[in-house]
Amino acid sequence: MFRINENYLKLQGNYLFSSIAKKVSAYSAANPEKEILRLGIGDVTQPLAPAVIDALHKSVDEMASADTFRGYSPDQGYAFLREAIAAQDYHSRGVQISPDEIFVSDGAKSDSGNIGDIFAQQNKVAVCDPVYPVYLDTNVMAGRTGSADPASGRYEGVIYLPCTEENAFVPQLPDEVPDLIYLCCPNNPTGTTMPKAELQRWVDYALEHGCVILYDAAYEAYIREDGIAHTIYECRGAERCAIELRSFSKNAGFTGTRLGFTVVPKALMSGDVSVHDLWARRQSTKFNGAPYIVQRAGEAVYSEAGRRQTKEQVDYYMRNASCILEGLRDAGYTVYGGVNAPYIWLKTPGSMTSWEFFDLLLEKAAVVGTPGSGFGPAGEHFFRLTAFGTYENTQAAVDRIRHLQIL
Ligand SMILES: Cc1ncc(COP(=O)(O)O)c(C=O)c1O
Repeated sequence: MFRINENYLKLQGNYLFSSIAKKVSAYSAANPEKEILRLGIGDVTQPLAPAVIDALHKSVDEMASADTFRGYSPDQGYAFLREAIAAQDYHSRGVQISPDEIFVSDGAKSDSGNIGDIFAQQNKVAVCDPVYPVYLDTNVMAGRTGSADPASGRYEGVIYLPCTEENAFVPQLPDEVPDLIYLCCPNNPTGTTMPKAELQRWVDYALEHGCVILYDAAYEAYIREDGIAHTIYECRGAERCAIELRSFSKNAGFTGTRLGFTVVPKALMSGDVSVHDLWARRQSTKFNGAPYIVQRAGEAVYSEAGRRQTKEQVDYYMRNASCILEGLRDAGYTVYGGVNAPYIWLKTPGSMTSWEFFDLLLEKAAVVGTPGSGFGPAGEHFFRLTAFGTYENTQAAVDRIRHLQIL
């Protein structure tokens, strides 16, 4: 008789966004006349840039003719895309990542979940609290954790790195040494960053203790301030201890188009085993490549027009971020993030829990955000708003929250 993977039974409750969706549809059914403003889920709203659309049209036409038609992509992705990535995301920053250390994929969510395949089940995992839920849940599925403690919401066997107001949301080096460390900068959900010097401390720590850092830089394009690394490979020695995950979702609006990549440097070794070769083997066995037309669209992001146009989109979202940050700060809220990231992390008023504040905003203002506790116990009493809406909706949502006069 077949048996299921019982690790899945350890997963807690529903996935955060399905719980939110249920509450929102119940509210909408009861209040059909109310316009709901959504600053909850991290999905973009601006259309693809013209340079990207042109590349899509052109490559679709290529698929219509036998002499230009393309079938399966090369295992790691087309060289034209990997070369553009290496040159513009890495060489331009003085970082020597070569195109054959880049693995093109269908996005950072699958990569951050799949990367665990090449690491032993016995590895001890460290995650930030609060955290992008995928890192934690995929390790639960893989059996790298015990059960969740119902009181604290924390899984047995996981090293949690609290990111709180006290440490400016920067994870501190843990007492117990992990094997795999997930870091995300700029951070989802807190919208905060860590200075490059802090990241270097993590790299030094990983090198000293033989850890691997899984570094998610999905929001790199939002970095505005100096002193923050755009890639972990700006840190000395990171090529020997870090894997970097990147996405086209938030810098170029590919959430529905699907494209990302993972960098696995050849210098990253486990004894005499190359981690790069393991990932190559994993991908060639389980993944058949991102579509040709999407890789051409990704290449267009790196063209002169593509760079300009996608930067305008990022600027548009960052204008929203400033609108939320300033509007709520003026109204007396304590707010974080929103300067180098499209997320605003606000403290719930008084002793209100994250879900109480969610209910209040939905009921009284028809505004949807994300309860911080959904990202981990240390997210309790916080709330995430995203800057990915339209400017008009963002302004309207901020006005509605201000008029509630909760504070
Ligand atoms: C930190 C982080 N990593 C990865 C992703 C997913 O990226 P992709 O759309 O490339 O799968 C998200 C999406 O919200 C994210 O917030």
